[in-house]
Amino acid sequence: MSLLTVRDLSVQYGTVQGGVLAVDRVDLTINRGEFVGLAGESGCGKTTLAMSIPNLLPKYASIVSGSVEFEGKDIATFSESELNTLRWKDVSVIFQGALNALNPVQRIGDQIAEPILIHEPGTSHDEAWRRACELLEAVGIPSARAKSYPHEFSGGMRQRVMIAMSLACKPKLVIADEPITALDVMTQAQILDLLRELSTSFDLSLLLISHDLSVLAETCDRVQVMYAGRAAEAGTASEVFGAGNAAHPYTRRLLNSYPNINGERVFIDGIPGYPPDLSQPQIGCRFAARCSEAIDVCRTSEPDLVAISATHSVACHLAGKSVTHG
Ligand SMILES: Nc1ncnc2c1ncn2[C@@H]1O[C@H](COP(=O)(O)OP(=O)(O)OP(=O)(O)O)[C@@H](O)[C@H]1O
Ligand SMILES: [Mg+2]
Repeated sequence: MSLLTVRDLSVQYGTVQGGVLAVDRVDLTINRGEFVGLAGESGCGKTTLAMSIPNLLPKYASIVSGSVEFEGKDIATFSESELNTLRWKDVSVIFQGALNALNPVQRIGDQIAEPILIHEPGTSHDEAWRRACELLEAVGIPSARAKSYPHEFSGGMRQRVMIAMSLACKPKLVIADEPITALDVMTQAQILDLLRELSTSFDLSLLLISHDLSVLAETCDRVQVMYAGRAAEAGTASEVFGAGNAAHPYTRRLLNSYPNINGERVFIDGIPGYPPDLSQPQIGCRFAARCSEAIDVCRTSEPDLVAISATHSVACHLAGKSVTHG
């Protein structure tokens, strides 16, 4: 049984202008010990999909269809106390922009100890502090620094603290939403190495969200590329990001939007145009208006995500089986 199974999930935000369907019929599976990456342009629904897992969506967002199952149990059936157990103890989240989320007037050790004290009633403060110190050591920060305040740490160290905090209640799945975006490249590499090491020592699965495809390619076992609320392509990291392997034109354009520092100096043209407005009904393939390979059927009929190998699937009329039906 998978650790996490998201099936056919649609999530809508209610706004004054009407509904925004931020995630539209998306599947996602994470097995035990697996690192899964979510990629895609800003606004494609990565955070919304991820926040649906521990049911941390804002009040004005609603799951309009589909289900989220953790260890085979549908979280829609969870009581408030079961949801509280799910959060921190089963699934913890390193939120997007978490680098500045630490309480500036509370010692780091107390901030890491807090979820332990809340979620494991009966734990003494000394025991929670001792575990906080161990967690700091595990993320490469000397435990003596537990008495320090956030302003006494660099950005990279604060992110290590956030990772330590996410591990406080020994979760099975960590959702890391852009955990390295605000860091320099060397610190990014250290944090990614740390996540890899911790996944073994803490027996973790990871959902890693990043704009940076090279980070996902290097870190994840499987990846899913999102576009305008839909999954465009999913597969192993090498099936999707390996040289010449990407099956969706959007994935190929995304890959071409990154410079290769070892290659020739070339002009990076990005992807012309903008993603569609998700408050409007979508007709055809959502990427068609920006796709240089689009044919007539792309503008009228929405492609399904179809398997092109045992582990690789793509939602494009030009790829795999769908081309014959298109
Ligand atoms: N609080 C909100 N109210 C209304 N619409 C929202 C809200 N949060 C997100 N959206 C809309 O939902 C869509 C998906 O947003 P989401 O934050 O999930 O994207 P993302 O892929 O995480 O983007 P980014 O890479 O910028 O973090 C966007 O169109 C966005 O405008
Ligand atoms: Mg986001």
